[in-house]
Amino acid sequence: MAFETSCDETSVAVVDRGRVLSNIVASQTQLHEEYGGVVPELAAREHLRNLMPAAHAALKAARITTDRIDAVAATQGPGLPSALMTGLRAGETLAFVLRRPFFGIHHHEAHLYSPWIQGSPPQANFDEFAPNVSLIVSGGHTLLVYVEAELQHQVLGSTLDDAAGECFDKVGKMLGLAYPAGPIIDRLAAQGNPRAFDFPRPMISEPNHNFSFSGLKTSVRYFLRDRPGLADDAKALADLCASVQAAIVDVLVTKTLAAAKKFRVSCVTASGGVTCNRALRRQLESACTNAGHKLRLAQAELCTDNAAMIGILAERMLARKATGIPLDEDIKPGWQLTTRH
Ligand code: KG4
Ligand code: ZN
Repeated sequence: MAFETSCDETSVAVVDRGRVLSNIVASQTQLHEEYGGVVPELAAREHLRNLMPAAHAALKAARITTDRIDAVAATQGPGLPSALMTGLRAGETLAFVLRRPFFGIHHHEAHLYSPWIQGSPPQANFDEFAPNVSLIVSGGHTLLVYVEAELQHQVLGSTLDDAAGECFDKVGKMLGLAYPAGPIIDRLAAQGNPRAFDFPRPMISEPNHNFSFSGLKTSVRYFLRDRPGLADDAKALADLCASVQAAIVDVLVTKTLAAAKKFRVSCVTASGGVTCNRALRRQLESACTNAGHKLRLAQAELCTDNAAMIGILAERMLARKATGIPLDEDIKPGWQLTTRH
């Protein structure tokens, strides 16, 4: 049984030998909408409210009772500290009471496994897992990771400022769109011309694996300042959304493919909320086809934060007798996570 409460989704899952028996996600998006971003204190309180109902629902959907649980896992970090604490304590307490092993899971490490869980009901298959290069792209993070083998990963680079999802959301705010703006921009962009306006593609050709999106956000701010009222026109708004999206997606795809080439991997994977973006999915597909890489994109419900990926990683760790990482272990470029026996 697994718990995920790192940000604004309360999620509880039950997994069994790679099969996701249940994956309950109580999203708080609406709660935070009026603030234009996640409010940590509200998130923690909402997790406390939703956690036990989600746990009951996960057991019910999996058709099991707690005596069948072999191990318990929870996201240990990174995330909002007060939010993390709710799922972590629930998981540790359950493991303590049941006298079962507990796994504190690194949130990003779990994202690396989510593209390998596919189908309905979802089933994990790690046959051709490694090596691969993985893009983790959400509202909080933009990371490129080299996955050498199971439980052996190296972060190649990350964003130096805003995450890609944050850039979508902040640009959306400037355009008067609701939070989170990523899915709205995706929808509006479908009607627009991605070449209508030329926005910068920060760091796209730098020989490193880092990202930066705050300059792009600022250039959209100046662009709008110089053209008051432009976003009130539906066609111009669609063109603007398509052009900003194209800049973000170009950077993500180019840097992911450059890392895949450098590390000579045959497979590229992607997960995190922004992986729901249709232009990103399309462009990764065509770039990987052209370069001869296999591509594995997390399926929609497993792109965003979920406890299924936490449980699946815990199962792999259980099988390999590996233990969790210390809570204060942060993720940074060059950070290396080797097998922890
Ligand atoms: O992984 P996630 O649910 O939560 C964390 O940030 O951890 O990702 C949410 C982010 C938000 O920034 C949201 O705007 C973005 O993912 N997002 C999208 C799309 N769907 C979600 N961005 C662009 N296009 C989408 N279709
Ligand atoms: Zn995440």
